[in-house]
Amino acid sequence: MISSPRSKEKPLGRIALEDVTVRFSKAPALEDVTIEVEPGERLAVIGASGAGKTTLFRVLTRSVALTSGRIAVGGRDLYTLSKKELKGVRRRVGTIYQAYNLVPQLPAGINVALGEVGGMGSLKTLRTFLAGPEGALAKRIEETLERVGLSGRARTRTADLSGGQQQRVAVARLLVQRPELILADEPFAAVDPVTTERVTDTLFELNDEGATLLVNLHDVNIARRFPRIIALREGRPVFDGSPELLTEEKLSRIYAGDPYGTAAEPDPETQYDVRRHVEGSARLVEGRDGISAH
Ligand SMILES: Nc1ncnc2c1ncn2[C@@H]1O[C@H](COP(=O)(O)OP(=O)(O)OP(=O)(O)O)[C@@H](O)[C@H]1O
Ligand SMILES: [Mg+2]
Repeated sequence: MISSPRSKEKPLGRIALEDVTVRFSKAPALEDVTIEVEPGERLAVIGASGAGKTTLFRVLTRSVALTSGRIAVGGRDLYTLSKKELKGVRRRVGTIYQAYNLVPQLPAGINVALGEVGGMGSLKTLRTFLAGPEGALAKRIEETLERVGLSGRARTRTADLSGGQQQRVAVARLLVQRPELILADEPFAAVDPVTTERVTDTLFELNDEGATLLVNLHDVNIARRFPRIIALREGRPVFDGSPELLTEEKLSRIYAGDPYGTAAEPDPETQYDVRRHVEGSARLVEGRDGISAH
């Protein structure tokens, strides 16, 4: 289990979205999304650009208003929590956003330390920023940076690191924070295959230690390494199941019309097989299955 000082708190528990709709303008970013995620799950979210993947993550930290529906975290309605309760939830959620969410002007080590400041008092936080992290935390930061292949870079200004290196700083921050829920939004965008492997391994390690892991991905081959994949199309979940049920035919429908879609070319070895579909455990969403309706 996660050896965080916060682990004495009641675990976040199951996440349940019920009929969640988010409309920014006319077209919904999410529409009638009903999904349950158990603690410790390892889940990949795929879908074309604009399908609602980032929005799905943002509602899980209450960073965007719901048009309708409910989200329960551990049985409690996320959107009616008090400010203080919400802060407590957010502290236990680790995020890697598409833009990494780092402060570019600060040294890499301080960005890593930000994984810890949520649990610090304001004085200690201020000291960390002004004088740098203290003994034990400084050592942890150095060890963590070493683990992600950035040994000795704690004092380098984050903006002076490459995109892939910044991404590893974001992963190092997760290792310091040890969140119960990890929301990684395209953590493999624009990084080399070695970094991708390293980041995947680290995220899987954190998941093995008990964190629930949700990753938004464009690379279907990496998504296939997750036991559960959810595909969104135009804000609706159109596939929810294990990777062997995600056939090339379904993929081509998930990404239909997406000029930037990165779905793999059809592979005759994994062509659609009705028997597998029937025997498998895919939960195609009833009545709103944009895939099988065709
Ligand atoms: N803050 C916002 N204001 C207005 N529209 C938004 C906002 N955020 C997202 N949208 C719209 O909602 C839809 C879903 O966006 P979202 O960012 O969730 O897609 P995505 O699946 O993450 O796409 P990508 O793969 O390109 O990151 C898009 O049509 C987008 O333009
Ligand atoms: Mg996105």
